[in-house]
Amino acid sequence: MYVCVCKAVTDTQIKRAISEGVCSRRELFKCLGVGGDCGKCNPHVKELLSNHEQSCNQYLMQNQPNHSILAA
Ligand code: FES
Repeated sequence: MYVCVCKAVTDTQIKRAISEGVCSRRELFKCLGVGGDCGKCNPHVKELLSNHEQSCNQYLMQNQPNHSILAA
């Protein structure tokens, strides 16, 4: 589905960029051009970034390093 009609960028392209390490709207603008024209896509782009951030936080919380091993 097209997220940014002005630059013909899909949600798949944005999700792929995010999974490859792009973590801000500014970076998405630099690599895909999203949000640079009319800006109507910005809320959806922000939502995609937010969803990714939540999944990253869940991953980090589930995979906390065991510091007690390091202290021993
Ligand atoms: S829809 Fe993305 S800049 Fe217009």
